[in-house]
Amino acid sequence: MQYEIWHARYTRTMKLFVDTGDIDEIRRAAEWGILDGVTTNPTLIAKTGRGFRDTVLAICQAVPGGDISAEVVATDYEGMLREALEISGWNPQIVVKVPLIPPGVRLVRTLAEKGIRTNVTLVFSVSQALLAAKAGATYISNFVGRVDDASADGMEAVAESVEMVATYGYDAEILVASVRHPLHVVQAVQAGAHVATMPFKVMEMLFKHPLTDLGLQRFLDDWNAAGLTIFDRASG
Ligand code: G3P
Repeated sequence: MQYEIWHARYTRTMKLFVDTGDIDEIRRAAEWGILDGVTTNPTLIAKTGRGFRDTVLAICQAVPGGDISAEVVATDYEGMLREALEISGWNPQIVVKVPLIPPGVRLVRTLAEKGIRTNVTLVFSVSQALLAAKAGATYISNFVGRVDDASADGMEAVAESVEMVATYGYDAEILVASVRHPLHVVQAVQAGAHVATMPFKVMEMLFKHPLTDLGLQRFLDDWNAAGLTIFDRASG
């Protein structure tokens, strides 16, 4: 077994995040007991029709202890720093999301020195992931779906990035983002990725298999045909 897959498999769990600003979807996913966090981005926040701070704080409340990524929107260092300090001050669960641009990498270094966690986003190559890891990123969001949409293999950079952080011992966790379907989650597991974030509908699809439905129905049909019960002790 490749070291990086061994390392991910036997030293960490695969964290599952839901990629949405929809608080109802987040609450439903949180009920399943397998949700480790939430990622948002300016587009997802804009879809909510609510204020940024209100939405992020509602998400923190819906996923107690979960890592909640909230993105800066400035593109200059000073503006990004001011926004990052504001956002990170709202709740300790918040992870500041920062785009992989030069002032963003500089910001990640500054925030790492202040003990503020970051999620570096819009990462498409292992070279970009290397910059984020060197700067001290907590999470590195390798986008896969948008690469697939351009007829290339988005998962390639994920596998390279997982190997890179393991090779050099960086603490950064590779977060597979821009997930389009359950196969991306399977491939993220195969690559030894540390986190996968996905739309709620994709997370719902992870539960589904036709043989599960058929098998359960068979169990219930046989049980009911036998007239069995669980709570009636008189029946033995
Ligand atoms: O939120 C980050 C990422 O998962 C969004 O990707 O391609 O679905 O917009 P996409």
